[in-house]
Amino acid sequence: MSIIIVSGSGLIGRKLAALIRERGHEAVAASPSLGVSSLTSEGLAPALAGASVVVDVTNFPSWEDAAVLEFFKTSTRNLLAAEATAGVGHHVALSVVGADRLPDSGYMRAKVAQEKLIEAGGVPYTVVRATQFFEFLGGIAGSVPDPVRLPTAPMQPLAADDVAAGLAEVAVGPR
Ligand SMILES: NC(=O)c1ccc[n+]([C@@H]2O[C@H](COP(=O)([O-])OP(=O)(O)OC[C@H]3O[C@@H](n4cnc5c(N)ncnc54)[C@H](OP(=O)(O)O)[C@@H]3O)[C@@H](O)[C@H]2O)c1
Repeated sequence: MSIIIVSGSGLIGRKLAALIRERGHEAVAASPSLGVSSLTSEGLAPALAGASVVVDVTNFPSWEDAAVLEFFKTSTRNLLAAEATAGVGHHVALSVVGADRLPDSGYMRAKVAQEKLIEAGGVPYTVVRATQFFEFLGGIAGSVPDPVRLPTAPMQPLAADDVAAGLAEVAVGPR
């Protein structure tokens, strides 16, 4: 089975490609640095030709409300259109646990918009939701002024390795 990892150059994408190959499937990484952009559609059609599954682990470097919303909407629309043309049988996307419960966050609104487009898109899909990655905690702490105060509420971050392992199971499994 040929599985295209859109943003295969990122944190999760690189780990996922290795796990898919370990399971005996072809994993092809696609991202702007590899000549494929889901935002502009550059290189998308040839990258998806012959693919059975597309895993979307794209991310946007900015959390600016309008920009991140536009990124996830345009990227998702472009991907779904290219998948429909290529006859891709399963779209797998990585989203965030509780995204729909944080409407004050522009990033979470963008992830909810991404999920809604996938649900309405017509390509068979699985949305996998992960909590924040352990690897991201330093970035979160660094994005707020000192001192950092943790809430008393329980938190359950996930290691990126575990996120990639869960995604790999979904990607190679039945839809
Ligand atoms: N961080 C968290 O705690 C967390 C929690 C739950 C879910 N998630 C989700 O996990 C996903 C992956 O996150 P990550 O941390 O692995 O990402 P990341 O390491 O920041 O990687 C970002 C990726 O997006 C690619 N990209 C940027 N613009 C693109 C475009 N126009 N077309 C295609 N690819 C593009 C980059 O490609 P280049 O390298 O070529 O620029 C890179 O591969 C995201 O969807 C995020 O919402 C994250």
